[in-house]
This record gives sequence, structure tokens and C-alpha cells, in this order.
Amino acid sequence: MRFLWAALLGLATALPVDKEPSIEKGPTPAVVKEPVETSVLSAAEEPVPVTPDRGTDVPRLVLYFQTTHDALGQPISMLPLITEKNIALTHLIVCSFHINEGGNITLNDYPPWYPLFNTLWNETRLMQDAGVRVMGMVGGAAAGSFSRRTLDGNATTFEHYYGQLRDTIRAYRLEGMDLDVEQPMSQAGITRLVSRLRADFGPDFIITLSPVATALQGGGNLSGFDYQQLEHDVGRHIAFYNAQFYNGWGYAGSTSEYDTIVRTGYAPTRIVLGQVTTSDNGGDYVEPAQLNETVRLLRAEYGQIGGIMGWEYFNSAPGGTERPWEWAQIMTAILRPGLVPLLRITKDIARGLVQAWQDSLAGGGDMIATAVMPVTPTVDYFAMVNA
Ligand SMILES: *[C@@H]1O[C@H](CO)[C@@H](O)[C@H](O)[C@H]1NC(C)=O
Ligand SMILES: *[C@@H]1O[C@H](CO)[C@@H](O)[C@H](O)[C@H]1NC(C)=O
Ligand SMILES: *[C@@H]1O[C@H](CO)[C@@H](O)[C@H](O)[C@H]1NC(C)=O
Ligand SMILES: *[C@@H]1O[C@H](CO)[C@@H](O)[C@H](O)[C@H]1NC(C)=O
Ligand SMILES: *[C@@H]1O[C@H](CO)[C@@H](O)[C@H](O)[C@H]1NC(C)=O
Repeated sequence: MRFLWAALLGLATALPVDKEPSIEKGPTPAVVKEPVETSVLSAAEEPVPVTPDRGTDVPRLVLYFQTTHDALGQPISMLPLITEKNIALTHLIVCSFHINEGGNITLNDYPPWYPLFNTLWNETRLMQDAGVRVMGMVGGAAAGSFSRRTLDGNATTFEHYYGQLRDTIRAYRLEGMDLDVEQPMSQAGITRLVSRLRADFGPDFIITLSPVATALQGGGNLSGFDYQQLEHDVGRHIAFYNAQFYNGWGYAGSTSEYDTIVRTGYAPTRIVLGQVTTSDNGGDYVEPAQLNETVRLLRAEYGQIGGIMGWEYFNSAPGGTERPWEWAQIMTAILRPGLVPLLRITKDIARGLVQAWQDSLAGGGDMIATAVMPVTPTVDYFAMVNA
């Protein structure tokens, strides 16, 4: 049944399922029946303090978190990125938010407030507590977010759809927004969006864009507008660029394209080397040893680079869906060994996470929390207790 839901709802790409669904395994832990504080991290809490990102926390290790559920409809935990050893993640980008003409903002296919995402939003708070900056991303490959009838529209249209984005940033305490413009948008439109985010969220809000690498070299682009013009107009508001060095738009197996971007006028610390985390996620995958060499050469040239970005978490090589955090361990070794954040998990937090996990199962026909049967999470939250 869960296979069917997952297939119907398209929650994850078609993944080989090479293990028994653990929902069938073992007795339900007694803890599930205990009264649980209704929300581990209630919406009423104070906002997390945002540490300014002014290019000083380089080199960044940035990871997109798009696939939120596995092929069985079970939520995927991001916490191993903190609890596994030797990972120094700096930015996690929750995605993909879409602006839908005539409708409401969605996170992938569903409203972000669906209980389906309870695990996601509980865990992002914990990531923030551990010092990881949690941002959102709007746009991506699906069309619609930046059209003349949505965020690139006239003043009335813009206010309507931008308001949905603004409210979402506030509701989920996102510390930044990545603008992944993969359809043509006007120069005035992107400038307006960047300026408005800065005006509404203040100087510490992290605004990034994620162009294909060629677009930062005056070459091929997906966004329509001119990045050098954008840089000239509002570059002071853009923290860094998650440049996509993949899928035919760039390649990080050598330094030459990064060098061209720097020659074009971008400071090396503002250019993050974007990679697919596995060849399953796109073309131009670079093996870690070779990426290490590129990074070594770039640092020899420029002293420091902006960092490494990965698209996306859930199936990263070499661990795959079983151990996707291994990618981040390897990148940490390349980029920033020793700079590891600390997560504090109490028993109460673990208990709440079990509840959130169960509420996040993608079993309900309306995608609203099922919690019909006690199911043992595939994540051992109690093993993470350290405080
Ligand atoms: C958008 O969501 C709000 C509540 O979050 C709801 O009141 C409104 O009807 C929704 N609009 C559309 C077009 O779905
Ligand atoms: C703004 O654009 C919308 C379409 O998105 C259109 O229906 C509306 O008439 C336009 N308003 C003005 C004042 O041009
Ligand atoms: C972006 O690419 C389009 C073709 O897809 C081209 O017409 C346009 O001139 C390019 N813009 C810039 C600023 O390079
Ligand atoms: C990266 O390369 C350096 C220099 O060649 C080497 O010392 C280091 O072990 C390599 N790191 C990784 C993670 O491959
Ligand atoms: C955390 O999970 C609990 C239990 O599912 C839920 O009630 C609460 O709304 C979630 N918190 C957030 C911030 O999503």
C-alpha cells in the first residue's frame, strides 16, 4: 500500500528499494504511547538568531534537501548530517518551493504546512540550533514561479505571489532564500525580488542565486536576465552564487571555468562550486579525488573559494539512499575538516521527533497526517540523545 502511495504521489524518484520496509519491523516502542508535548518545537518559539553571512564563513558546505520522503512514503531525516561524525555543513537549502499561478505556494507538490512535513520542519529547527543555516529555494526546473503571471508580474501580481513567499519564509523561519531561476525572467523582475527580500528581511538574510556556471561567464543561461547586470545593480545584497557546474553547463574536473568566472569579475569567495552529489542526479559528476584536486588548485590560486554545493541530499554517493551523509563527510574532508557543529538532543526532543515522524508518513489520501497506526521510525532518534 505504501508503495502505491509513494508511486501515486511521486514523493521520491523511482528508487530501487533494496530493503524490507522497516515499518513492518519490530514492536512499537513504548515511548510512542507516552504523552508527547504536542509540538517539539512550537511555532510560538522565539525566532532563531541569524548569524550574518557576509562571505566570512567560507568555505561553505551547502546541500540541497529536496526529496523529503523515501519510496515507501517515509520521511527522510536530515539529522545524520549533524549526528554523523566529521561533517561541517554550513547551509542546508530546503526545496523546491513553487509559486503556482492561481494557487498557493507549494513545497514540491504539497502545501508546506501539510503534516507530511512535520519531520522536515522539526528537524530544520534542530539544524539551526546546531548552527547550520537553513534556507529555502524557490524555482528550479519546474516552470511557473518567475513568470509574468507570478513573481515577474505587474505590481499587483507581484505583491500577491511574493506575499506567499514572504509568509512562508516567516512561518518556517528560513534564514535565507536561494533563487533558482530556470525560466526566462526580466532584469527588472529579478532586481525587484532581490531588493524586496532584502527590504523585508534585513541585512542578515541570506540571498543567493543558483545560475548555471556558464551564465556567470557571459555564456549560456536559463534565467534570461544578465547576471553581470544583476551583480552591478544589487550584487551587494547577494551573499553568494551556487553555480551549477554540471548538466552540460559547467564542469569542476578542472579549474578553467571557475577561473573564467573570477576573470569575469566575481570574487572567488562568492562562487560556490555546485556539484551533483551522484551521477544519478545529473551529468558532469566529478569523483571526489578529482574534485579535491580542483579545490586544491583553486585555493593555491585564490587563497580561498566560496565552497562546495551539492544537489541533492537523499541519494548522495557513495553511500546512496542508505548512507547519504557520506558525501558530506568527504566534502568536509576536502573543504573544512574539523569545523563540525554540535547538535544537542534530549529525550524529550527525541520523543517529539518520533511523533513528528509518524505524523509525516505519506499515507493519507489527502496527504494530511495519518497517524493511524503506530509505526517505528526508520531513524533511531533515541540513539542521538546526548543531552
Ligand atoms: C491559500 O492558502 C490559504 C490558507 O493558507 C487559503 O485561505 C486560501 O484559500 C488558499 N488559496 C488558494 C487559491 O488555494
Ligand atoms: C496585472 O497582471 C494581471 C495578470 O497577472 C492582470 O490580470 C491585471 O489586469 C494586471 N493589472 C494591471 C494594473 O495591469
Ligand atoms: C540568455 O540565453 C538566451 C538564449 O536562451 C539568450 O537569448 C540571451 O541573450 C542570454 N542572455 C544573456 C544575458 O546572456
Ligand atoms: C586532497 O588532496 C590533498 C593534497 O593532494 C591530500 O593531502 C588530501 O588527503 C586529499 N583529501 C581528500 C579528502 O581526498
Ligand atoms: C513538529 O512535530 C509535531 C508533531 O508532529 C507537530 O505537531 C509540530 O507542528 C511540528 N513542528 C513544526 C515546526 O512543524
